[in-house]
Order: sequence, then structure tokens, then C-alpha cells
Amino acid sequence: MTDTTETVHVDLGSRSYDVRIGAGLVTRAGAEIAPLLKRRRVAVLTDETVGALHLEALREGLGDISMTALALPAGESTKGWPQFSRAVDWLLAEKVERRDIVVAFGGGVIGDLAGFAAAVLRRGVRFVQIPTTLLAQVDSSVGGKTGINSVHGKNLIGAFHQPALVLADIGVLSTLPARDFLSGYGEVVKYGLLGDAAFFDWLEAMGPTLAAGDMAARQYAVRRSVEMKARIVERDETEEGDRALLNLGHTFCHALETATGYSDRLLHGEGVAIGCALAFELSQRLGLCSQEAPSRVRAHLKAMGMKTDLADIPGDLPGAEALLALMAQDKKVVDGKLRFILARGIGEAFVTSDVPGDVVRKVLDEALARR
Ligand SMILES: NC(=O)c1ccc[n+]([C@@H]2O[C@H](COP(=O)([O-])OP(=O)(O)OC[C@H]3O[C@@H](n4cnc5c(N)ncnc54)[C@H](O)[C@@H]3O)[C@@H](O)[C@H]2O)c1
Repeated sequence: MTDTTETVHVDLGSRSYDVRIGAGLVTRAGAEIAPLLKRRRVAVLTDETVGALHLEALREGLGDISMTALALPAGESTKGWPQFSRAVDWLLAEKVERRDIVVAFGGGVIGDLAGFAAAVLRRGVRFVQIPTTLLAQVDSSVGGKTGINSVHGKNLIGAFHQPALVLADIGVLSTLPARDFLSGYGEVVKYGLLGDAAFFDWLEAMGPTLAAGDMAARQYAVRRSVEMKARIVERDETEEGDRALLNLGHTFCHALETATGYSDRLLHGEGVAIGCALAFELSQRLGLCSQEAPSRVRAHLKAMGMKTDLADIPGDLPGAEALLALMAQDKKVVDGKLRFILARGIGEAFVTSDVPGDVVRKVLDEALARR
């Protein structure tokens, strides 16, 4: 079989790295990681689900590199202090040294937690991301944002710590439950919406094929998403400006995730998809984009069988005022002003802090009334 692995380089000076994208990378992990190693051992953090499905394949793929692993419970609630301190203490007990490599093998939860553990362990050790969800492959494994949640909100504790290498094996996505796959697709759509109308056109045409398991379509979607993220992160590594574009849909999403207690009532990518639809609605309400744009966003999400509105979230939700208060807790608040990502059309997003609260409240009120 010919190797169709592609590489996206993330150019960040001394913190540059490659994102390798292809099928079967887990089974070749040893050859990929070996050039980074000072001694032939790695410490792997994973979750129990991924561990049961893929850890033995990784162990084999590492060949003569010895591997020690800790599997944390699967799910967003792992991304907090208790499991974080357990992971850090385990890495110390395993005698991981300054020059060793920590491997994050799992979805965004494991990637964020393991990356943050690597950032603080002995004041910083290198780490390799082997993302196993679509969301982690197209988004969370690239760009160096690591961290955990607080009772005060999501991702409020963390550090910028770039990985030394990312291995996105599109083959492992085959075991991902359909709901998690579609949740990750929410972030894929986000890239088209924020900066590449032609990519959104392609997704409208190819999304169903991609979701049905077509490997070439899957690889293209992951590669294009990673390229877009890489170029934005290169321009603005620590989110002083342009990187905020990646938060399209996220101000709404984070409020909804807090309101639903980070539970499986709403997965992160589902919140992003709903948030993107609301951000386009808000843009239209502010006269920035045509009526057609939000309709097209909703139509595509619906065609993919995704959640598109507050009405699709099961259970109670707080009122518009309470949701606005949760938005104000978001990290995107600067000097008390809500920073929003709005759009002049599909593929034309921009950052602004000039959004009247009453218009946001109206958009939320109407969305709540549709429930
Ligand atoms: N750091 C960033 O830049 C960034 C960006 C976006 C999202 N995030 C974070 O990512 C997290 C969400 O990530 P996620 O959606 O990957 O969630 P996740 O890590 O919880 O994974 C979702 C579920 O899929 C399971 N799973 C993972 N890989 C699998 C596979 N190959 N086969 C079968 N099951 C598998 C996991 O066990 C879990 O139950 C959130 O905490 C979010 O804040 C971070």
C-alpha cells in the first residue's frame, strides 16, 4: 500500500513542529517518535475507552521503545484538578525526566490535560499528541492550548505549551461513535465558516461521504482544517488578535456547556455547531450578513444530522439573562466587554467587541422561544 501520509508544518521558530496526517500512523508511531527521544521510553496518558481499543496497537507500533501508560476515566469531567494531579503524580512516580516525552493518546480531554501536565512537570517536558477524535485531530491537538476546567468555567486553568509532534491517524477514527464524530465535524465546519468559503462548499457536497467513512474525504477534511489552524496560530500564537477567529461559535458554546454542566447533554463540538449558527444569526441581526448565510449554515448542519439550535439540547436551560452572564465569564471578555466573532458572510469572520448586549439577548430569547 502506498503511504499517503501528509505533513502540515507549524512554523513557530524554536517551537515549530510537524502534524502528520494519514492512516496507520499509530502502527508506525515508533519510527515517527524515535527522532525526538533521548532514551527509548515514553509515558502515555490515555482514557479508558481509547486505552481498551487502541493501546495495544500503540504499544506494538512503538516497537522497541518501552511504554508505560495511565488510563484516566473517559469524559469531560476528567478535565479537572483531581485527575490532573493524579496524572502529574503518576508521571513523577514513573520518573519521567526533563528530556523525556509524554504522549497524549486520546481526544481533546486527554490532549488538553496531558499537555498541561507536560507543561508543568519539572517546569516543562516535551509532549507528542496522538489525537484519536475528529475534534482533537482538526483542532485541539494543534496550537498548544492546554489546560483543565474550573468550577468557575471551562479551560480557565492552563498554559500555552506546543507539542513536539502531532500524529493524526485517521484510521483510529473508525471506532469513534457517530455522535462523537459529528461533534468533531462541528469544528471542521467552523473552519469553512470562519475563513474558507470554498471549503464550506466542499463540505456541503462531501460531508455525508466523509461521515460515511470515506478515507480520502476524511484525510482532506483533517488536512485542510489543520492547515487553516496552523496558519492562524503562526500569525498569533497567544491569541492577541487573529487567533480569536478560531473561537467562532465558542462564546455561545461555552455558556451552553456551563449551563448543561459539561455533561453528555451537549458535547463540545455540538455546542460549537449551535454557537456558529447563533453567531451567524447575530451577524445577520446586526446587518452584517445576508439572511441567506445563517439559513445555509443551519441547512448544512441539519443535513448532517447535527444539533443546530437550543431546541436540540435536551433538558432545562437557564433564561437569556443567565446565559449572557455565563458568556461574560468567558475568557474572551476584555475589560468587561464581550468579544464576539461575527461574520460578513460564509468564510468571512472577524473579531469585534462592539456587540450590543440587548441584541445578543434578543437572539437568545428567540432561540429559547423555539424550544
Ligand atoms: N486545546 C484546544 O485548542 C481545544 C480546542 C477544541 C476543543 N478542546 C477541548 O477538547 C475537549 C473535547 O474533545 P473531544 O471531543 O475529543 O472529547 P473527548 O476527549 O472526551 O473524547 C470524546 C469521547 O470519545 C472517546 N474516544 C476518543 N477516541 C476514540 C476512538 N478513536 N474510538 C472510540 N472512542 C474514542 C473518548 O473516550 C470520549 O468518550 C473539550 O474539553 C474541549 O475544551 C480543546
